[in-house]
Amino acid sequence: MNATVGAKLVAKYDVPGPRYTSYPTVPYWDSTPTQEQWVERVQSALRASAEHGAALYLHIPFCRALCTFCGCNTRITRSHGFIQPYTAAVLAELDIYLRQLELAQLDLGELHFGGGTPTFLTRDELEALLTGLGTRVRLRADAVASIEVDPRVTTGEQLELLAHYGFRRLSLGVQDFDTRVQEIVNRVQSEEQVRAVTEAARALGFDSVNYDLIYGLPLQTRASIEATMDAVCRLRPDRIALYGYAHVPWIKPGQRRFTESDLPEGGAKRTLYELGRERLERAGYREIGLDHFALESDGLWQALRRGTLHRNFMGYSTAFTRPLVGLGVSAIGDAGDAFAQNEKELQRYQERVARGELPLQRGHLLDAEDQVLRQHILRLMTRLETRWDDPADYTAYLQTAAQRLAEPAADGLVTLEDQTCRVTDLGRAFLRNICMAFDARLARRVPDKALFSRTV
Ligand SMILES: C[S@@+](CC[C@H](N)C(=O)[O-])C[C@H]1O[C@@H](n2cnc3c(N)ncnc32)[C@H](O)[C@@H]1O
Ligand code: SF4
Repeated sequence: MNATVGAKLVAKYDVPGPRYTSYPTVPYWDSTPTQEQWVERVQSALRASAEHGAALYLHIPFCRALCTFCGCNTRITRSHGFIQPYTAAVLAELDIYLRQLELAQLDLGELHFGGGTPTFLTRDELEALLTGLGTRVRLRADAVASIEVDPRVTTGEQLELLAHYGFRRLSLGVQDFDTRVQEIVNRVQSEEQVRAVTEAARALGFDSVNYDLIYGLPLQTRASIEATMDAVCRLRPDRIALYGYAHVPWIKPGQRRFTESDLPEGGAKRTLYELGRERLERAGYREIGLDHFALESDGLWQALRRGTLHRNFMGYSTAFTRPLVGLGVSAIGDAGDAFAQNEKELQRYQERVARGELPLQRGHLLDAEDQVLRQHILRLMTRLETRWDDPADYTAYLQTAAQRLAEPAADGLVTLEDQTCRVTDLGRAFLRNICMAFDARLARRVPDKALFSRTV
């Protein structure tokens, strides 16, 4: 991106906006399903996807210390006293589903452990959880099982156990390799720690290793990002998520622990991404959707080529698996025409499960317009284009999409032709803004308080 053009565009388009891991986005959910409605929707999604199996997300919120940038749902503790009651509650929640769905086991095409830090659990605690899960789910032969790990607390014996239970994808939180940045965000870890976990996983047969990195952290500079990328290229993960730092201190007060003036913003922040992108592309990585990269040998790139790339609450995935059942505190489920999120407070989550209830806290039943618009936003986020000429897909809001996209088109961010919108190379930096042109709910009710991080 030419620097002057870039600065003007960033000034114009850097506004608060959703990241579109769902549509409608969570703040616009307004119709929480009852337990019966939710089970019924999951049931019919299961029938429709009998060929592929369901996806299961299991949230483990515990972390040893708070990284001050963190936007995830975490419980910071050094005590393992919480673990057994929590994993028992998660398995009990799964039992409630199985009872209500009248199933002996849930057939899975996808299994994901996220957090927090799943490898906060010791090897034995993980084994107890996996054994309990093993009697309640059946992983298909072609199922994808993945886990998020923190290299600082992940051991060879945990990885061995996970490999034994069929996990083949590992995602490591790396964030940044620069010592000053690591110190200011309370996340100090060495290249050696990351290398050790990466190599151990590969030796055990994990076939896709992802690194999470963040641009826009306090004290990051062009030089620090280049050095971080050099280290990443030396370690050569199969995939990389290069997330834009989401600064939402009104939701995550931990983010107030560093000075806002240390944050690179707007054009300076975007430049860090562009530097990272150039370095990764020179090393053979391909850019995917929003903020993601993969080697051509990785399934994520192949899914993009095949047209099967999907995006859900867990990020990008290689296959379209629905329903997504979320287990654990704050976990989100997706039945296609309904979303539901569990209680976000640990104690409340456990109490409700103990009463034999599904611990749903909020959710949304998608109306006909939501379902159409959702497809367009998903296509933009995965394929960078969408067309709305299919009468079966009709919804009135689409008829004015071209008007809303006229300015981005004039700015060279998209091309518009025959009811088709294609994101240009220049437009990739503003993908969230382009999706906003399809977000009827955001247009109808502009938030009167801060909800979203900035789009650039
Ligand atoms: C659950 S953590 C990954 C596993 C493990 N807890 C760790 O940090 O190593 C999920 C990822 O979300 C990303 N993340 C967390 N807070 C963020 C924020 N405010 N903005 C952007 N990305 C963020 C980080 O890259 C982090 O690795
Ligand atoms: S980034 Fe990971 S390790 Fe750090 S607080 Fe967040 S979830 Fe925990």
